[in-house]
Amino acid sequence: MTETILHASKIAIEIAGLELVSDVDLEVDKGHSLGIVGETGSGKSLTCRALAGLLSPIGGRISRGNLRLGRHDVTSPGAHGKENLYGRVVSLVPQNSLTALNPLMRIGTHLTETIKALNSGRIVQAKARAIDLLERVGLPNPERILSQYPHELSGGMRQRVMIALAIAGRPQLLIADEPTTALDVSVQKDILELLRRLSHEENMALILVSHDLGVIATATQAVAVMYAGRIVERGPTDTVLRQPRHPYTQALLRARPTIGRTGRLIGILGAPASPEAWPIGCRFASRCPHVESRCKAKVPALEKTGAEKVVACHRVKEHLALELE
Ligand SMILES: Nc1ncnc2c1ncn2[C@@H]1O[C@H](COP(=O)(O)OP(=O)(O)OP(=O)(O)O)[C@@H](O)[C@H]1O
Ligand SMILES: [Mg+2]
Repeated sequence: MTETILHASKIAIEIAGLELVSDVDLEVDKGHSLGIVGETGSGKSLTCRALAGLLSPIGGRISRGNLRLGRHDVTSPGAHGKENLYGRVVSLVPQNSLTALNPLMRIGTHLTETIKALNSGRIVQAKARAIDLLERVGLPNPERILSQYPHELSGGMRQRVMIALAIAGRPQLLIADEPTTALDVSVQKDILELLRRLSHEENMALILVSHDLGVIATATQAVAVMYAGRIVERGPTDTVLRQPRHPYTQALLRARPTIGRTGRLIGILGAPASPEAWPIGCRFASRCPHVESRCKAKVPALEKTGAEKVVACHRVKEHLALELE
């Protein structure tokens, strides 16, 4: 039987009284992978932080909804801190993590400090575990790397160290926020391969954020498309990318540059509104080629359009009917 590691239901995220993410529904099973994709500012990183219990350092909070991690109900008052889930149940490789390592600290210190913190009170062979972790993330000559400073490593190597730090507590769910964005293409491929291997070896679920649909297509089984703080489409990656139903997903795919593509790239007209100016109805309405009056009046709910697929568009049934004609 599959075991659900993450269950998020109707989560909203608020910072300084402003709701920046609304009604996020997500589910990830043990060992499975989920991609989150969407334009800049769509709420991907805030969602990652919320799922990892890391909103409070940036002054944010889950203001509504329910979040379960394994058997822990994280949204019950004070639960995340009390249960000490970070690192052990869920872990995050944050966006821009390549600059996250302290330049004055050797890699060995980063790792042993994290290992000691995760094993609070217990005596551990921190150095041996650090070497083991560096080997697990495919870094050659781990003894040498332990004595090096972050600037002595390449971007790809630093990202491997960040992943080693994130898996040090053997989490059941690893969230990687744009882990390949700043890396060149061949290193990107290696990092994705590493994440896939680790997820398989450790039976660890993976949430991978990227604005690159190619990355999502290679590395995830399911995907959630976010626009302006809401999920607009969600389902198996293959189905969502082959048969996108939401006009925003369709536009994202049309705007994607690929080698050998001869047709013109069609950008998405306009820009997303800022959270203070989000409209009452569908937040994509002002950029949508299929907009009609009801789109501006009411937020469309996520509705089932296929076996495991949901789409938030008032007109999705009409699109489906047209396709079947
Ligand atoms: N600490 C913060 N304080 C106030 N607003 C924030 C904060 N962090 C994010 N936001 C706002 O929340 C919204 C979502 O931001 P988020 O960083 O989650 O987007 P994103 O989808 O990860 O974008 P990107 O692709 O650029 O990483 C944006 O409008 C952003 O300006
Ligand atoms: Mg982000």
